[in-house]
Amino acid sequence: MFQIATIPRLDLNTELFVVFVQEKFVKQRTKSYADFPKEIRGALQMLFSLRDFKGKLFNNRVIYPEKENGVKRILVVGTGEQIKLSPDEFRNLGKLVAEKQEELSVKRVHLCLANMGDFREDFIRYFSEGILFQKYRFEQFKSDKPSKRKNSRFIFLCNRKEYTPRFRQILLETESIMNGVHITRDLANQPSNHLTPSALKDYVKRHFKEVRNIHITILDETELRHKRFGALLSVAKGSAEAPYLIIIHYKPVKKTTKKLVLVGKGVTFDSGGISIKPSANMEEMKYDMCGAAAVVGSMDVIAHFKPKFEVIAMIPAVENMPGGKASKPGDVVTAYNGKTIEIINTDAEGRLILADTLAYAAKEYKPKIMLDFATLTGACVVALGDKTAGLFSNSEKLTDLLKERGAFSGDRVWPMPMDDIYNKELESDAADLKNIGSRWGGAITAAKFLEYFVNDITWAHIDMAGTSYNVKNLDYLGKGATGFGTRLIGRSLKQLEKMI
Ligand code: BES
Ligand code: ZN
Ligand code: ZN
Repeated sequence: MFQIATIPRLDLNTELFVVFVQEKFVKQRTKSYADFPKEIRGALQMLFSLRDFKGKLFNNRVIYPEKENGVKRILVVGTGEQIKLSPDEFRNLGKLVAEKQEELSVKRVHLCLANMGDFREDFIRYFSEGILFQKYRFEQFKSDKPSKRKNSRFIFLCNRKEYTPRFRQILLETESIMNGVHITRDLANQPSNHLTPSALKDYVKRHFKEVRNIHITILDETELRHKRFGALLSVAKGSAEAPYLIIIHYKPVKKTTKKLVLVGKGVTFDSGGISIKPSANMEEMKYDMCGAAAVVGSMDVIAHFKPKFEVIAMIPAVENMPGGKASKPGDVVTAYNGKTIEIINTDAEGRLILADTLAYAAKEYKPKIMLDFATLTGACVVALGDKTAGLFSNSEKLTDLLKERGAFSGDRVWPMPMDDIYNKELESDAADLKNIGSRWGGAITAAKFLEYFVNDITWAHIDMAGTSYNVKNLDYLGKGATGFGTRLIGRSLKQLEKMI
């Protein structure tokens, strides 16, 4: 998909040559784009002198060089006042160019990095991410499939003296991570009648079947009952679909005792159960397994990156339905760690399935770090909106790491309070705990609930209810599932290794 090359000064043969220009280039005309290959300069000069293109960010024109030579078309893209853009702006630029490439039915695109100054690395990383986001479609259930898209190639061109092998490494890394993001989005976008807990389990088995170093274990309903996953089973009870605990275990070639556990909420549909949700937008609750999808996509990335520590992904997969056998408000259940829980609201099901899973992971694997990803609360969306996920942790160091990597990766997370005073809200008259707090601060009480099941393990909970699907104003993310979580995990592995 991507290539890095040095600019051949002569004989540049291309269907589409892309140049990025700042407003000041346009104003100064001839002076500042002397770096561009000669054959392009004439065409640019013409465009700039007409003054109908100012170089504003995302402004663009396709122009056709007058002289017949190797460059058939030039796409001129404005970058505004400067060439240094934010990562999201670079990503949106990638999406823009990928769209143009499709619109013009061009297969090979040459991108000129000659005037990118010190931002070539950032540009390559984020721009290619934007292209790959744009290339993703979910059209499995469309009868009229658009004609099969040709394999496109994007070739980044820089001057010989500016070229570094690191550019290639950045592209390879980004491609691996984006491959994981595609898997995450594909799973998350599946409707719940197709992606049941059983279908999710089958997908994971099939996907990792041939992958060395990855082993799959599935706990079915009988085994879950034997192991006393009382909280998880109380959620599954109302549905005709059987629950599963899916375990994806990555072991590096060199034996190690270092372990990272990833847990992903896998509610394939959340009707709310007996505490049933209102019908408006209920279809969105097919996305209640985005945490699980993020973890599956991340394991694909991990299989490629081969970190030196073990990674154990655990996915409690259930459907939350109000069937005849469903849990009812007031029911008391016993979690894996023996704690009793009064179920006040059956729609607070995510924390119930996570409780058993976290407790099981902590006891069975004793990992150094445990991370859970969950579309857990509407309250988190109220607090932080759809661009940033809530980060709840018992470790300042892990908080700092994830916050920094979140900003770098595009999967933003923000630390939320975890003071023990919030525990008061979870006190129950009938059991050790109840499964909801008061009306306010619902994302925090949900996190404090989970904390009862992690023991003393360094842990972070990421509430991604707002960031997982239908995110507004970040164009490169497109429609539906965003793949949230996979970039964060993929881009944190090196930093996590130091902590594990
Ligand atoms: N899956 C929902 C959370 C959610 C809400 C995800 C909106 C995405 C968008 C979760 O299981 C839930 O229903 N939470 C309740 C908790 C409440 C009953 C304490 C909520 O947030 O309303
Ligand atoms: Zn719910
Ligand atoms: Zn839910």
